[in-house]
Amino acid sequence: MFDEIAPLYDYLSWLFLPNIKRDILNHIELNEKDKILDVGGGTGKLIETILRIEPEVKGYVLDKSKGMLERAPPTQDEIVGNSSNLPFDSNCFDLVFCIDALHHFEHKNKSLTEIIRVSKPDGEIIILELDPNNYMTKFIEYVERSLGEPSSFYEKEEIKNIFLKKDFRVRIEKINFFQYILHAKR
Ligand SMILES: C[S@@+](CC[C@H](N)C(=O)[O-])C[C@H]1O[C@@H](n2cnc3c(N)ncnc32)[C@H](O)[C@@H]1O
Repeated sequence: MFDEIAPLYDYLSWLFLPNIKRDILNHIELNEKDKILDVGGGTGKLIETILRIEPEVKGYVLDKSKGMLERAPPTQDEIVGNSSNLPFDSNCFDLVFCIDALHHFEHKNKSLTEIIRVSKPDGEIIILELDPNNYMTKFIEYVERSLGEPSSFYEKEEIKNIFLKKDFRVRIEKINFFQYILHAKR
């Protein structure tokens, strides 16, 4: 689906979720030496925004859609790949994002295991997802599934427990009536 909608994606995202990057950036502290990965990062706009604030950061965006990545600015490393088999060494990223993408992944558990694997022991993980019990999420799930996406959503406690079992401290914050940010750090 994303290869097809890539030319319109940034416009739609701005239309429906204009403040999303501000909300995400409120949750992080950047360090100029940070190595950052955005899994399912699409058109790379989050890393682009971060690079404007902190140009020394090393940013990587991984996505399975070539069409989405083609729209990412050349200032970041773009990798066509799958979240369930990240092509990176273990313990190498200071910050890993997964923004509005986890529910699109075919193998969510394996993808989370991979995200945890590539994070440094003192690294941070930021996940933005949709509350499965909200009517807006149910509508989005219906639309995305009709378009052939494998969309399905973790309960907040379910995803929180996955991180707690791996010795992370977890904070979940609602950012609007249907989305939340999960912040995990060991
Ligand atoms: C709703 S978009 C979000 C893009 C970006 N994170 C943002 O916030 O604008 C979901 C992205 O997940 C990507 N995606 C879906 N399944 C994937 C997978 N298994 N591995 C990597 N990326 C995937 C899609 O290609 C798409 O670009």
